[in-house]
Amino acid sequence: MKLLIRPQKTPLTGTIAVPGDKSISHRAVMLAAIANGRSTIRSWLPAGDTLATLAAIQSLGIHIEIEKKSPQAWDLQIEGRGLHGLQPPTGPLDCRNAGTCMRLLAGILAGQRFPSVLDGSAQLRKRPMRRIIAPLRQMQADITAEADKAPLYIRPAALQAIELRMKIASAQVKSAVLLAGLYVDGTTRIIEAGPARDHTERMLTAMNAAINWHDGSIELSGGRELAPLDLTVPGDISSAAFPLVAAALIPHSQIRITHVGLNDTRTGLLDMLQAMGATVSSHNQRTTGGEPAADLTVRFDELHAADVSGDMVVRGIDEFPILAVAATQAAGKSRVRDAAELRVKEVDRITVLAGELRKMAVDVAEYPDGFTVSGPVRLYGAEVDSHDDHRLGMALAVAGLVTHGETLIDRADCVADSFPDFVETMQALGANIEWTA
Ligand code: S3P
Repeated sequence: MKLLIRPQKTPLTGTIAVPGDKSISHRAVMLAAIANGRSTIRSWLPAGDTLATLAAIQSLGIHIEIEKKSPQAWDLQIEGRGLHGLQPPTGPLDCRNAGTCMRLLAGILAGQRFPSVLDGSAQLRKRPMRRIIAPLRQMQADITAEADKAPLYIRPAALQAIELRMKIASAQVKSAVLLAGLYVDGTTRIIEAGPARDHTERMLTAMNAAINWHDGSIELSGGRELAPLDLTVPGDISSAAFPLVAAALIPHSQIRITHVGLNDTRTGLLDMLQAMGATVSSHNQRTTGGEPAADLTVRFDELHAADVSGDMVVRGIDEFPILAVAATQAAGKSRVRDAAELRVKEVDRITVLAGELRKMAVDVAEYPDGFTVSGPVRLYGAEVDSHDDHRLGMALAVAGLVTHGETLIDRADCVADSFPDFVETMQALGANIEWTA
């Protein structure tokens, strides 16, 4: 399916909810499966990526009751069977496009008493897995993979505690090691390279694991059974990012997004937008399952360029496609550096993003570890391609609202990997966006 977007002549207004946080939804299903007893997870995200994790966990013998509250929010009851209660799967586990599914499950499966195989889509088979294979092997895990790419073949092994000094700031790598660390006798220590999202640490804390963490240093002692979870998943700030930027760019817009997760390791985009002069404010702060959340309001503003580098990058790592779109409408040259990790996301999010934005007449320069965008520019409608990357697809859709002429986005179904009701949600704000054949 393609998305057709027409120039937005009227402001975006209204109140919306975005779907549950993808990172938290993956972790909740995995950790509930190995907890002792029945977990309750509300507002779980039923998107392409997380459904891969749900199906994999069911293939490992875990019973899950599903109540479909809406197309974007499911309530789950998961019968956890304890650290050693998973059952051998009958075939390879399909992680589809989901890097988080594959990398985190590898940590859990490395500690099991049965062999397993993790596989995924052609896109996932291209992504680097050495980053988890190497530290897990250091823990004595038995994992083989041709050229360090999926499929991953995992066999039973007695895992050992390690001290890992990370070279890249990656939540998936630290989480894989922490999950494997649940299966060792001793204490696993991790020293982080930067403030990567800490949802695994928070969830393990809520489940009474023997974990301590502060200032980028984490210690986890293995062997202790996990208590079940009782959790309401907050809205995903990485999904809120799209309507948020759209409202900041379209004159006279003002919108409210309810119950968005505001974990400090995830709010880089809000800081970047504020540095560009956007007005974003939060209301009704609360904490759910150890995660801070609030309602966000944003309104149209004249934006100016910003420089982004250092820790800000990892705190907004998934938001660079939409940040680049914001930069096209900001006065001056916006610069992104220290962001080489963007090259190993769903696609190379520097080259592919630059290529698609150029089709819309954006002046963008590429660097090994980032890009610059000069603004403000008049965008021109074009036929562009998501490259099967959900966040690129949604960022291009927002760009389409501020262009001269119509925009058509090919291979747009992938938006459902993280935001199944993206189009309906944008339409609810009055956006000129629709599906077309
Ligand atoms: C994620 C971690 C990040 C992020 C990805 C989700 C997670 O990747 O880009 O979308 O849920 O742990 P890295 O950990 O590889 O940086």
